[in-house]
Amino acid sequence: MERILVTGGAGYIGSHTVVELLTAGYDVTVIDNFSNSGPDALKRIKAITGKDFDFVQGDVRDQGVLQKIFNSQNIYAVIHFAGFKAVGESVKEPLSYYNNNLFSAIALLEVMKKNNCKNFLFSSSATVYKDGETLPLIEDCVLQPKNPYGMTKLMIEMLLKDLYVSDKHWNIAILRYFNPIGAHKSGLLGEEPNGIPNNLLPYIANVATGKSAELKVYGNDYPTSDGTGKRDYIHVVDLALGHLAALKKIEGMGYDAYNLGTGKSYSVLEIVAEYESACGKKIPYSIVGRREGDIAECFADCTKAEKLLGFKAAKSLADMCNDTVNYSKTKR
Ligand code: WQD
Repeated sequence: MERILVTGGAGYIGSHTVVELLTAGYDVTVIDNFSNSGPDALKRIKAITGKDFDFVQGDVRDQGVLQKIFNSQNIYAVIHFAGFKAVGESVKEPLSYYNNNLFSAIALLEVMKKNNCKNFLFSSSATVYKDGETLPLIEDCVLQPKNPYGMTKLMIEMLLKDLYVSDKHWNIAILRYFNPIGAHKSGLLGEEPNGIPNNLLPYIANVATGKSAELKVYGNDYPTSDGTGKRDYIHVVDLALGHLAALKKIEGMGYDAYNLGTGKSYSVLEIVAEYESACGKKIPYSIVGRREGDIAECFADCTKAEKLLGFKAAKSLADMCNDTVNYSKTKR
């Protein structure tokens, strides 16, 4: 079976994708520098799948490390997750975001080109879309990110387009994630942000386990059903399966972008209610001011991924919350 190189494969989405790749019979090599993950995730991948895989600890910007992998293994395709991904942090530290995210992608693609490996799946984000576009968002909507993190994703998308135009032998799948949440049903893999979580679900999970006292709801004066922000939450395992669907269609793909979402949006208070029924506890919260840069609502038109990749997210919001609760009970 083909061997897939997964950068950032010890991370939240990367590790769930490695599980699905191994389960589907692919050989896998992971490269990760543990900047936002740890070796424990690798052990848990093996525990879930019962399968081994190759691992290289290193920085994707290091072409020497990358070349060593290509020297010793025949890589069929690369799935590129490695990158910094916190919106707020990117506003404070733009240089480190541009350096890490752009130079990683460029180093990786140069080594791939040198080794004639031209199947590339890129972890992009709905953050590339312009605020205020008509919902649901389609892949042809205007691309205009409002923060350095989203700009790095867009710049890499544009770089990939130029690469494809220069050499049509490349097959490039741009996968734009909406809001990934949830955990593996085994309770062995889930989201483990370093420090205080920026995102909603890990923060709610911390309130439920007593790590945080209450949830701060960032505004209830948005033009939405209950005034709180609405997002398209997709189960991380569905997201992983979306990568496998794109991988299966990568030959002859050329250059294309796909939304990976559910096509539905839920408000913050709807998420709180669902999580309360999943964990059997009240989640105390207080309404505070809006968070800088937040939008009222965002959700995907998933038609393209359904039609061209044969991918449709299957898991419900209840699955996402139940699996997160289950993980919060087992994580170390
Ligand atoms: C969701 C909703 C908040 C925390 C970000 C990135 C995006 C992607 C996913 C990388 C919003 C509200 C949140 C809290 C709250 N990451 N909220 N209290 O901002 O939609 O997307 O993460 O690809 O690129 O932009 O996700 O989980 O931070 O917020 O009220 O403590 O929850 O206002 O309405 P977001 P989020």
